[in-house]
Amino acid sequence: MNEAGQFEPKIVAYVCNWCTYLGADLAGTTRLEYPPNVRIIRLPCTGRIDFNLIVKAFEIGADAVLVSGCHPGDCHYTAGNYHARRRWILFRELLEALGFEMERIHFTWISAAEGRKWQQVVTEITEQTRKLGPYKNLYADTGNGSLPIPEAAPAVDQPAGSEGSLRQRCHQLLADGTVKVVIGYGTGGPVCVTKPADVGRLVWNNQCSSNLTTYLKRQEVRKLGRAAIVVKVCDERALVVLEKESQLDRKDLHVMGMACNGMGQPKCATCDVRVPRFADEVIGEVASVPLAGPPNAAPRGGAALEVLLAKSPAERMACWAREFERCVKCYACRQVCPLCYCERCIVEKNRPTVIDPSPTVKGNFAWHITRAFHLAGRCIGCDECTRACPAGIDLRLLNLSLAKAAEEHFGYRAGINRDVEPLIGAYSLQDKENFIR
Ligand code: FES
Repeated sequence: MNEAGQFEPKIVAYVCNWCTYLGADLAGTTRLEYPPNVRIIRLPCTGRIDFNLIVKAFEIGADAVLVSGCHPGDCHYTAGNYHARRRWILFRELLEALGFEMERIHFTWISAAEGRKWQQVVTEITEQTRKLGPYKNLYADTGNGSLPIPEAAPAVDQPAGSEGSLRQRCHQLLADGTVKVVIGYGTGGPVCVTKPADVGRLVWNNQCSSNLTTYLKRQEVRKLGRAAIVVKVCDERALVVLEKESQLDRKDLHVMGMACNGMGQPKCATCDVRVPRFADEVIGEVASVPLAGPPNAAPRGGAALEVLLAKSPAERMACWAREFERCVKCYACRQVCPLCYCERCIVEKNRPTVIDPSPTVKGNFAWHITRAFHLAGRCIGCDECTRACPAGIDLRLLNLSLAKAAEEHFGYRAGINRDVEPLIGAYSLQDKENFIR
């Protein structure tokens, strides 16, 4: 509030040291006036601006956030701003799905010579935020609505004879020493079979919906020696991502692909590939085998995500606030994810503490935003996080929003193509920037 009792917005500006900061400095030294509402935080490069900082600024009371750096081609570190641009494209979509007010988040390129542009941008953002008023809806449960329930595909039987063929092949692989262990499905859950005589424990039916590739990161499983793993086509995508990220050596693994008729799960409703494509061998046959052409050219997302995105930002925020209220920070979503393999998770770091480890509203939002964005361009849609959550939080919708953005903006689906570079970590000069001033 100013002296007259009117609202004065607080604007946090994360700026690159080499361009925008100097542009702001130039505005000052040339006596260009602009509103004093902006608090400048100087960082080495836009490529070093952690996405968590945007959220953090709102949490500590900012009414708007500005992120600004060097124009494309001018980055002091060559490509930091190109990498940042790609991340912003995706991060904006995640914030939108969560119900953040996107008119409070601004991106711009301002060079060291553009003092006047700095003056104009800050003046415009201040005016715009004054009209919007204080940011009151952040993490607010206004009591409106609940998350849409995803539709599941009908459960169908798996191809006849697959279970017997699987056991027979695993018996051979273990007996001739090709592998030391088979990671597969048993009647009560996953099993590790190490002796040919035990292959009868392996099953294949429409209860085999979980993604076993997550066990490949476990030390106790790795110690058993060369493994064979039973995968569906959706699980196989995790192997492709892990291989691209140098987390597994494909030569050390024997992949037993299972032709799948669908497991009656929500993820099966949008699956259009039924036969693993990179497996060492495929067991079973299914009616539709779309091996030719790009799989699923249409944007993926599912009806539930469309319903969520049709709500107002305040309603979306209210939905998530209510969902995250149940989160007890057990990290089951992280533990079960085949692509969460960091030795030390960001949530366990305390110098500085990036995410409040206690299950508070802020801490829970920060955790789920970080978890989802860490999987941007990587999540293969196995839905294990949702399945494992004891609080029943439908985390898949956050993952889906990012998967949809990756497809729409970059034509990218994680784990589908072995020859494509990971989405985050690469960039293109053609990446869109119509949201950047
Ligand atoms: Fe300015 Fe990289 S140094 S954006």
